[in-house]
Amino acid sequence: MAIPKTSKTHIGNHKLHPETMMLSYGYDPELSEGSVKPPVFLTSTFVFKTAEEGRDFFDYVSGRKEPPSGSGAGLVYSRFNHPNSEIVEERLAVYEGAEAGIVFSSGMSAIATTLLAYARPGDVVLHSQPLYGGTETLLAKTLGNLGIGAVGFIDGVDEAVMRQAADKAMKQGKVSLIFIETPANPTNTLVDFAAVGRIADDIAKRQGTRPVTVCDNTLLGPVFQKPLAHGIDVSVYSLTKYVGGHSDLIAGAALGSKAMTKPIKALRGAIGTQLDPHSCWMLGRSLETLAIRMEKANDNAAIVAGYLAEHPKVAKVGYLPFLDAVSAAAKTFKAQSTGAGSTFSFDIIGGEKAAFRFLNALQIFKLAVSLGGTESLASHPAAMTHSGVPIDIRQKIGVLESTIRLSIGVEHPDDLVADLEQALAAV
Ligand SMILES: Cc1ncc(COP(=O)(O)O)c(C=O)c1O
Repeated sequence: MAIPKTSKTHIGNHKLHPETMMLSYGYDPELSEGSVKPPVFLTSTFVFKTAEEGRDFFDYVSGRKEPPSGSGAGLVYSRFNHPNSEIVEERLAVYEGAEAGIVFSSGMSAIATTLLAYARPGDVVLHSQPLYGGTETLLAKTLGNLGIGAVGFIDGVDEAVMRQAADKAMKQGKVSLIFIETPANPTNTLVDFAAVGRIADDIAKRQGTRPVTVCDNTLLGPVFQKPLAHGIDVSVYSLTKYVGGHSDLIAGAALGSKAMTKPIKALRGAIGTQLDPHSCWMLGRSLETLAIRMEKANDNAAIVAGYLAEHPKVAKVGYLPFLDAVSAAAKTFKAQSTGAGSTFSFDIIGGEKAAFRFLNALQIFKLAVSLGGTESLASHPAAMTHSGVPIDIRQKIGVLESTIRLSIGVEHPDDLVADLEQALAAV
């Protein structure tokens, strides 16, 4: 059996909030010499009390049998599970209101393992665009080479456009997954969860099986957006970003019901995309401050976006609260997210030359890819994260030579604005 957990969810009738539960849920200090923080369990394998226990644990961990209610699958071997991953998986699941969570060695391994758990050669993945460049490449190349097709749609708030893409995908094969990223990196393009659910239902009627719906929730989740509550089957994350939050680890996750995550967890064990104990421990540390960090970064982003919107050298700011209030995108944003987050792009007047001059002049913002860390970062998606995306698709999704992506951190907002001001003056 896995180590017992303190899994307090209530005080009397009072339901505890995720912010509180991130400090204790899933870890019992009594089992570790009273240590307030869990130790890092640096072990590859676990001792069974008896041979019978070993047999049962293998049955549970491989999914052949369900463990007795109230107990875990049992600790067997750290490629399958270990105490540090179980603690973080339980906390992440609590945050998003999921039945189960699984952590991975990276966001890409979470996405790849999820897709491979459900797609077979001859199938098609219907997906939103833009996607993170690595996901776009995974679909086009890695899965393409395995005979798994991909059909994209760009306007995720226009159901007619999405239905057209669904029709096209169904002509090519069985649609086994609908994969969306909302808001999308780097343009903050939105996808309507409710419309995705309706399209999945419609595909189910026509092809006999419902595609599994998956949302990359890296940019807003789990603090400002919970796709599972809106009917999405699996929420995937690059935990490298806001959840890890300090730009010091690489990790990913998939959250959903026990039934939906079971094949994903089985494939993780089979191919070894598990996350190591030390990174899991660091994620546990990070979850304690997740809400504070995301809320502060969110407030800073509002100030920075407001400043950029007024600047004469800025052509456009892709910040969600600036959407036209009567637009379908603004309605989608209001219906499914409680905050805009702190990653957004803007277009500078003067194309790549101006963009590079601006980036080279920054003094507080660091010129680096990635996002969601405590420090503010700036990058050029067309030349960096999205350079592998064909140019015609980049043009369509709005990743232009003039596009600069910012990830706003927790610095003093006046210092961030001062940095932008001097860098724009240098253009
Ligand atoms: C939205 C999004 N999804 C997935 C990934 C991939 O995550 P990782 O780098 O942890 O593999 C990234 C990385 O930038 C991302 O921004």
